[in-house]
Amino acid sequence: MTDHTRSVTFTLNGVECTRTVPVRELLSDFLRHDRGLTGTHVGCEQGVCGACTILVDGTPIRSCLMLAVQVDGSSVETVESLAEGDELSSFQTSMKENHGLQCGFCTPGILMSVTAAQRQGRSAEETESEVLGGHICRCTGYSGIRAAIRQTWMEAHE
Ligand code: FES
Ligand code: FES
Repeated sequence: MTDHTRSVTFTLNGVECTRTVPVRELLSDFLRHDRGLTGTHVGCEQGVCGACTILVDGTPIRSCLMLAVQVDGSSVETVESLAEGDELSSFQTSMKENHGLQCGFCTPGILMSVTAAQRQGRSAEETESEVLGGHICRCTGYSGIRAAIRQTWMEAHE
């Protein structure tokens, strides 16, 4: 009988992890169902909405478009890694202070993409247009999220 599973070893939120996964399992399903990391949300399942965005080797990717076996040897970060205990990251704090979320469905993906932009040293303007442009939010009208991005960048340069 053909074995339809593979062993993968990767770093998940700073911890090395080896798991046997079905070769066709989506990374988003693996994170949510196998690892219990339900902060990664699944909306469209076709790469459009951005809700499932996580970081693989520091790059934002749609986890609904990637297979779990593809992260073998990589470093994976999910939204659960952003806060340190009760201490929110700078952008999480700004999102809270600027009412950047309502239902919160889109929020984890936005947090991950904006965090990557912060680390890459991208400008607030570029982050607002190009990064936020890859995420669909049906609740906020984006104004609170834009304000949170501006506040985060401003505070970083004070
Ligand atoms: S669920 Fe992956 S982009 Fe929408
Ligand atoms: S806060 Fe509801 S979809 Fe963005």
